[in-house]
Amino acid sequence: MRNFKSIDRMVFGRGTVAKISEIITKQKSKENDFAVYLIDDFFENKNLVSTLNVEGKDKYIFISTIDEPTTELIDQLTLKIRSYYGFLPVALVGVGGGSVMDVCKATSLMLTNEGKAHEYQGLDLIRNKGVYSIVVPTISGTGAEVSMTAVLTGPTKKLGIKCDFTVPDQVILDANLIDDVPNPQRFYTGMDCYIHGVEALTGTWRNPMGDSFGEKSLELCKEVFLNKNISRADADEKLMVASYMGGLSLTYSQVGVCHALSYGLSYVLHLHHGIANCIAFNYLQKYYPWGVEEFHQMLDIHNIVLPKDVCKNLSDSEINLMVETAYALDHMWDHAFGKDWKTKISKQEIKELYLKM
Ligand SMILES: [Fe+2]
Repeated sequence: MRNFKSIDRMVFGRGTVAKISEIITKQKSKENDFAVYLIDDFFENKNLVSTLNVEGKDKYIFISTIDEPTTELIDQLTLKIRSYYGFLPVALVGVGGGSVMDVCKATSLMLTNEGKAHEYQGLDLIRNKGVYSIVVPTISGTGAEVSMTAVLTGPTKKLGIKCDFTVPDQVILDANLIDDVPNPQRFYTGMDCYIHGVEALTGTWRNPMGDSFGEKSLELCKEVFLNKNISRADADEKLMVASYMGGLSLTYSQVGVCHALSYGLSYVLHLHHGIANCIAFNYLQKYYPWGVEEFHQMLDIHNIVLPKDVCKNLSDSEINLMVETAYALDHMWDHAFGKDWKTKISKQEIKELYLKM
């Protein structure tokens, strides 16, 4: 039996982020209680910071998203937050895309668990519930706002801290925050959502619960990226919900071939998750024929030209590291091909796929 944890509370609606201080105040019971905001540094010197109404003893830290989040970053943030007042904050708020939300989720857990973040990369290794976590997506698609994983790059692997405690306590979905996300970032992150739907709906771990969230997420994604007449405002609200539903589909189902290959690409080439997914998905007609065909239509409609030959100049050892990183993601291959997945795809086939990219 798998007994899944859900988000405790969710706010949905334009302009609702302005109410965040009301939500945080409810967590404060003592005079010295404070919250820490982790904010994508894209918002440094922008209006959003005043909208958040950071007050009293609250602190905020801008998070760079140039690189994917590392376990080292989580350890540094944990140390910094612990040292502010010598006691823990009552809430940790992550305002940004998938990276920042994952940083928030992982830091919340490391504040209440001993040791280093890389020791917890894996399934159900966390012992204690984290600091109350609130996530506010400012770009939609990753599903990080609802997922039970905080994906981190560690010293030896890219792997999530995955457990019930990783699920945020509160999410605020305010589409005003994603109205200005430029292409191609919006497209790449949106495609992460589309690919979650395709992979969740194609594999051996499927079930009616995962399918229901996956199908609705996919339907919304198609409206957003295949309907040429949809307004940006309408599309943004739908994309925000699609991302949330896509994240839920993965709670009950799983990602597959594309995500396994994408993790290898990101680990070696330090590519962001969304673009790495797109580079990999482009060559996966054999595994996801209808999904890749629609994906190609979306590329055309949105005038996206994907980088080519990204593995061309890699050494043998770098390619092999990529293959090993992907091959180690047993659960993704298991979902894609079944328990006997090692008889369905070999390291040589994975290597050949990488060499096409
Ligand atoms: Fe993803």
